Amino acid sequence: MPRQLLWIGYCTLVSSLLATACFAIPDHGPTRDADHGRVLVNRWCVSCHLVGTDQKQATTDAPPFATIAKNPDFDAAKLAFFLLEPHPKMPDMQLSRDETSDIAAYIATLK
Ligand code: HEC
Repeated sequence: MPRQLLWIGYCTLVSSLLATACFAIPDHGPTRDADHGRVLVNRWCVSCHLVGTDQKQATTDAPPFATIAKNPDFDAAKLAFFLLEPHPKMPDMQLSRDETSDIAAYIATLK
């Protein structure tokens, strides 16, 4: 009997891990690549946002990414989702799901 119980416990664990992974990564692709995200923000976001630590000034009232990362409500998955829609005052950058996930992963490193 204890063997069976172990097995059930194992299955429960694995399926909850899978559920978590599916929730965090809505589409596909195993990696959320913060390095790629940094490249993307330096291309797309740097003109308005403070995107990292070595940039002193941004040109607009857009919130610095470090501020966004430190927000207690910060959630990388939500941020990635938010970025799929252009925000007001921002050009529509047509980012893919992978790109928004990478950007969110990068911003998460600024905490
Ligand atoms: C043309 C200027 C501009 C560019 C480019 C831009 N943003 Fe923004 N962004 C803003 C402004 C301005 C705000 C402040 C919110 C507002 O007034 O709409 C903002 C707000 C945000 C917010 C916070 C939203 C909130 O309410 O917490 C996030 C996250 C964000 N931008 C991410 C990005 C990312 C990631 C990129 C690059 C892929 C980017 N932005 C590029 C101007 C820009």
